[in-house]
Amino acid sequence: MKERRGALRVIAVTSGKGGVGKTNVTANLATLAAQSGQRVLIVDGDLGLANVEIMFGLAPRFHLGHLLDGSADLNQVLAKGPEGVRVLPGGSGVRSLTALDDAQKMRLMATLDTMEDDFDLILIDTGAGIGENVLFFVGGAQEALLVVTPEPTSLTDAYAAIKVLSLEAGVEHFHVLVNQAPTEQVARDIYEKLCNVTRRFLKARLKMLGFLPRDENIHRAVLMQKPVVLAFPHSPVSRALKVAGDKLLQEEPPPGNAGGLKFLWHRMLREGPEASAPVAPGTPT
Ligand SMILES: Nc1ncnc2c1ncn2[C@@H]1O[C@H](COP(=O)(O)OP(=O)(O)OP(=O)(O)O)[C@@H](O)[C@H]1O
Ligand SMILES: [Mg+2]
Repeated sequence: MKERRGALRVIAVTSGKGGVGKTNVTANLATLAAQSGQRVLIVDGDLGLANVEIMFGLAPRFHLGHLLDGSADLNQVLAKGPEGVRVLPGGSGVRSLTALDDAQKMRLMATLDTMEDDFDLILIDTGAGIGENVLFFVGGAQEALLVVTPEPTSLTDAYAAIKVLSLEAGVEHFHVLVNQAPTEQVARDIYEKLCNVTRRFLKARLKMLGFLPRDENIHRAVLMQKPVVLAFPHSPVSRALKVAGDKLLQEEPPPGNAGGLKFLWHRMLREGPEASAPVAPGTPT
C-alpha cells in the first residue's frame, strides 16, 4: 500500500448478507494501511459481538461500553493491534450496545471527533444487515465499502443495503469488493448486475474496488488470530487484498463530505433517518 497523508478518511465496511467477509476485509486492509505508514483506527461497529479483537488475538479489558458510561477513558479503551493498528473494541455480549440510543451516539460522536487529528484512516467494521447501529456508522462515514459474494442472496441483500443506506443514511458512494469469487470474470459480472439495478433506481454510485478469491488461508489465519496478510502474505487472497488496498488508498475520497464525521453524524441526529437521495418511481423493494 502506498502512503497517503492528508485528510482523515472514514470508511465503513458493510454488506447486506452476514458472513461475507467484512471483518476479515477490515482487519486486513487496516493492517496493510498501517504497514504503509498510515495511522489507522478500527472501530468495531459490530457492537456486542467483538469480532475484530478476536481476529487480532486481543483480549482488551475495556470496550466502547466503558467509554460511553465514563468508566474508562480513550487511552484505556483503544487496544493495540498488529502493525500499530488501534482498535476501539465493540464489547462482547454487551446487550446495551446492540442498539445505541441517541445519548450514546452523541457521546461516541464527540469522542471520535477528538481523534480526527490522530488518525489518517478510520475503518468501521459494521455488523450484518441494516439495523440502527449500521445506519448510524455507515451514515457517519464518508464512504462505504460494500462486501458482496457471488451467491444470489448476497447480491439481492447487497442491493437492499445500498437502497436503505442511500435513502435513509444519505450514503452516495460505495466501493464494491467481491469476496470469494471463483474468477475475476464472475466478480465483474456481479458488479455489473449490481451497478445496473442501482443505476436504474437509486442516486447512489458504485465503484469496483476489486475481488478476492476464495482461499483457505483466510480460515487458517483466523484460527491463528492473525490477519492473513501477516500470516500468509504471499497467499492469493493476501495479494488480492494488497491490490484492493492500494486502489482504495490511491483513490480520491468522494467530494461533498468535507465536514467529516461530525458534520454527517450531527446531520443524522438532527434530521433523523430521512431520505437524502431521491429515488425514482417504481424502485423495487
Ligand atoms: N476469501 C475468502 N476465502 C475463504 N474464506 C473466507 C474468505 N473470506 C471470508 N471467509 C470466511 O468467511 C467467514 C466469515 O468471515 P467474516 O467473519 O470476515 O465475515 P463477516 O461479514 O464479518 O461476518 P458477520 O456478518 O457475521 O460479521 C470466516 O469463516 C472466514 O474465514
Ligand atoms: Mg464481522
